[in-house]
Amino acid sequence: MAAQKVLSICGSLRKGSLNAALARALPSLAPDGMTITAAPSFAAIPIYNWDEQNDDGWPESARLLAAAIRAADGLIIVSPEYNFSIPGGLKNAIDWMSRMQNQPFAGKPVALQSASPGPVGGARMQYHLRMALQGLDALLLTRPEVFAGNAASKVNEAGELVDETTRGFMKQQLAAFAKFIERVRI
Ligand code: FNR
Repeated sequence: MAAQKVLSICGSLRKGSLNAALARALPSLAPDGMTITAAPSFAAIPIYNWDEQNDDGWPESARLLAAAIRAADGLIIVSPEYNFSIPGGLKNAIDWMSRMQNQPFAGKPVALQSASPGPVGGARMQYHLRMALQGLDALLLTRPEVFAGNAASKVNEAGELVDETTRGFMKQQLAAFAKFIERVRI
């Protein structure tokens, strides 16, 4: 299988993020030939305003993230669920990038993961994110899905994902994602 460069985006900005713990575990769970690196942060992207886009173009932070997505063979988004949906910061970054020429999500293989201290594991967020990205012509891996519920018990004090069952699900998804990337590669 050809080498695959995969980018990960974490939808949470907080230091002790459970989702960031999953994202940090990804490289150790990747199949042979796949490298996974963290995307440039979306933290500095201002709130989307069409007037600002029109007057000044895209913020550098949005351009950097878009360039990293374009250069990747695939994208994994690991995000919490906020109020049953996509966290605003992540959605804002997607909104900025959606207006770019050479829109970075078009034709891009994408896999989703989520973690929550609650039992549902962020599933509702995933279906909203799936819908938004489908509207941008991303190619979404359907299954296996990864929802880490009760995640506070699965991450240790050092911020490491220590739950073997969750690590196993993530590994299975990454193996399926590797095949999916090859299947849709142009
Ligand atoms: C939450 N949380 C939450 N959890 C959930 O399962 N469904 C939800 O709808 C929400 N809504 C929500 C809104 C906001 C604004 C916050 C800050 C939190 C709880 C959330 O899952 C929990 O704080 C996670 O730990 C956040 O993910 P990170 O930062 O640990 O990755």
